Amino acid sequence: MKVVAGSAGEKVARAVGLALKAEVLPVERRRFPDGEGYVRLLAAAKDEDVVLVNSTLPDQNLVETLLLQDALHRARAATITTVVPYYAYARQDRSFQDGETVSAQAVAELLELKTDRFVTVDPHKEHILGFFGVEAHAATCVPEIAEWLRKEGVDLVLAPDKGALERASAVGKLLGADVDHLEKTRLTGTEVRMAPKNLNVKDRKVAIVDDLISTGGTIATAAAELKRQGAANVYAACTHGLFVGGGLDRILQSGCDKVAAADTLENAVAEIPCAPGIVRALRAAGVVR
Ligand code: R5P
Repeated sequence: MKVVAGSAGEKVARAVGLALKAEVLPVERRRFPDGEGYVRLLAAAKDEDVVLVNSTLPDQNLVETLLLQDALHRARAATITTVVPYYAYARQDRSFQDGETVSAQAVAELLELKTDRFVTVDPHKEHILGFFGVEAHAATCVPEIAEWLRKEGVDLVLAPDKGALERASAVGKLLGADVDHLEKTRLTGTEVRMAPKNLNVKDRKVAIVDDLISTGGTIATAAAELKRQGAANVYAACTHGLFVGGGLDRILQSGCDKVAAADTLENAVAEIPCAPGIVRALRAAGVVR
């Protein structure tokens, strides 16, 4: 087993390599003056089972992932397992209006071409795995999120909306904490409304758990409402921390005491490791023992 890292996968690839006692192969990655990407494997991959790790945000990392798959294919790797910690485009998982693409499917149909299997972490909706023409698996960092929240002494876990309840429930179960959900209505791309559902949060340590934080609007609005209802502390934890347009500051200014994300993407609060979940998924898929 060998591991190869893309530009948005170096830290996770190192952690996966360490856990599997697998060498991370050296790779040259650079850009031509016009911005096009260049990759070159600097070690043999012939007859090796290779795990390629790269998130696909921004778009140039998607192209880089396709180039690395091609390089491994040409180098005659025995098998290629493409691990995408953060699968960008997963949120457009159906066509909402006439004329739209289903981005999660369109990108899956590119990523499946030169790989034997695909693994991603906590996808927004699991049904997107069905868009791949090769076996596709979801890894999860729910246990690691629960571990981070345990250190804060959280006793109530909330999902920001009903759709996110399954993930919050899994975290709550591991913590032995109560679980509930908020009522969220999205107004615009950055604004949401939280219905003031009475949740009995007074003097409690409350966590909001979501799959991803983008602008921070969801968490900031929820945290402000929970503090208004008397929560002693509010924590936010997610798998994918995009924090676009000052999203992290927005959350911290809302009254949220602490925020953490898994390290599927690089950001200032990427404190929760996703590699253990990836290794569990690789084991469950029979890729490694
Ligand atoms: C939505 O379904 C997701 O689970 C997140 O709640 C959402 O994408 C967060 O976006 P934002 O941080 O911009 O409110």
